[in-house]
Order: sequence, then C-alpha cells, then structure tokens
Amino acid sequence: MTTLRLGDTAPDFTQDSTAGTIRFHEWLGNSWGVLFSHPKDFTPVCTTELGYTAKLKPQFDKRNVKVLAVSVDPVTDHNKWASDIQETQGTAVNFPILGDPDRKVADLYDMIHPNASDTLTVRSVFFIDPKKKIRAMITYPASTGRNFEEIVRVLDSLQLNDSHSVATPVNWKYGEDVIIPPSIQDPEVIKQKFPKGYKALKPYLRVTPQPNL
Ligand code: BEZ
Repeated sequence: MTTLRLGDTAPDFTQDSTAGTIRFHEWLGNSWGVLFSHPKDFTPVCTTELGYTAKLKPQFDKRNVKVLAVSVDPVTDHNKWASDIQETQGTAVNFPILGDPDRKVADLYDMIHPNASDTLTVRSVFFIDPKKKIRAMITYPASTGRNFEEIVRVLDSLQLNDSHSVATPVNWKYGEDVIIPPSIQDPEVIKQKFPKGYKALKPYLRVTPQPNL
C-alpha cells in the first residue's frame, strides 16, 4: 500500500458494485469523482449518510461529479440495506456502492486504520478531478457522520480554483467573496481575471467578488 497524497493519481481498480462491475477510471470518464467509505452496512450513522448523499444527487450532477460509496461488506448486503435506507431516509440510493469484502479498494486507498478498527473502513472521502488526480481528502471516525454539504462546498472551491484561479476563505459559501492568491501579481492579469475589481486588506490579502457570477 502506498501513502496517497494530494496531487497523486487516484489508484484505478475493478470491483463489483450495486450497479455491476466498476472499472474506476473508465467509470469516472470526464467527471469529477467523490469516493467515500463507510464502516459497515446496517449501521445507523452510515444509513443517514447514504440517504443524505442520495438527496444531494442534483447538486452532484450540476457539478459533473460522480459519487461512489464503498465498504468491506458484499454487494448482496448493500442491496438488502438499500431498502432500509429508502424506508428510513425517504430516498432510493441513486449511486453505486462498491462491495469490497476482499478489501481491494480499502487497501488501495488506505481506508482501514488499524488503531481505529482492524476490520472496518473509516469514513474517508477522496475528491478526484477529471484528470484522476486526488485534490482533497477527508477522514472521520465511525462515530462522526460527515457533513455532505461540506463535501459540495469543497467541490465548489476546487472547481473555482480550476476555472478562475481563486482560493476560498474560511467558512466560504458559494456566492461569497473569494481570494486572489498571492501568486497572481501582474496587474494586467488581475484586470483580465477579476474585472469586478478587488479590495486589498493587506498586499497578500486581496478579496474579489466570486468571478463566475
Ligand atoms: C454507524 O454507522 O452508525 C457506525 C458504524 C460503525 C461503527 C459505529 C457506528
């Protein structure tokens, strides 16, 4: 197993899922990807996470993001659990869940942290861009359900960074002012990239209206 770091190519794999066999890179195509692990099927926190993720599908679609869940349980269990998720969370699971009983994906992505659990995956999230590069990672323990609005927020930040060369400040939400990185200094480039102007609170702290709105 190699340590995965930001900027690394997301490891490719072929694995079974609730939507049939998935060849990861091929399945991603030109989309962004969110690959996230949950510890176990038929558990309470995971049930709420997968239901909420399904409800966010329009948000992921709008951003050209494919979502893929994984746990070390088999696909047969995922299929049975999906009806519980539908019943209790009020939504069908509308994205694939990988069955990973041989831990192929869990090991490739270092999702089992033995000092947390020898057998269960932690709550990992990998944000993968259309070039298959890992752009962000989040890791939570089994007892803490993730904030999937945060996952959408991170996607917005990454996509704005790609499209408009901006960074996003603390607690930024879509539509709020963004930051011009210190690496951009050429006044002509600034004028062209940020036609709405900017405020320099310090030479290194320059804020500008979100440029794509
Ligand atoms: C849960 O999803 O609720 C959960 C899963 C594994 C361990 C503890 C909690």
